[in-house]
Amino acid sequence: ALERTLSIIKPDAVAKNVIGEIYTRFERAGFKIVEAKMIQLDDELAGGFYAEHKERPFYKSLVEFMTSGPVVVSVLEGEGAVLKHRELMGATNPAEAATGTLRADYAVSIDNNAVHGSDSLESAAREIAYFFGE
Ligand code: CMP
Repeated sequence: ALERTLSIIKPDAVAKNVIGEIYTRFERAGFKIVEAKMIQLDDELAGGFYAEHKERPFYKSLVEFMTSGPVVVSVLEGEGAVLKHRELMGATNPAEAATGTLRADYAVSIDNNAVHGSDSLESAAREIAYFFGE
């Protein structure tokens, strides 16, 4: 089915000047980029986005990292977009990410892992509304 998913190009990837390369991968994979903005997250916006991780030990460093520089937030549309985007990204931990995935190529650690993508249709709807409204 035609789906939408939320993509975030994280501060490490923005700082590395690979926004264009990542967008090229999205476009080559057949995604349409239907919404996009570059923003500087603050503690409230990043903390709210990752509210489900609030009790996890990495929460504080996650919010610090995500507010350390601008991010590019996009909505990608395509057939089976949620799973397809997760496959393009590779595993959360780049050490476990398959060759040729975004995280294998651009991430350095599980904390600085270059990109975020919605993990289900339900979180995609919630995350898209969080950044772009209903
Ligand atoms: P992301 O998909 O943006 O969602 C939460 C982020 O927390 C994740 O990517 C990682 O960058 C970061 N993180 C750090 N440690 C962990 C961990 N042990 N498990 C999951 N995510 C982690």
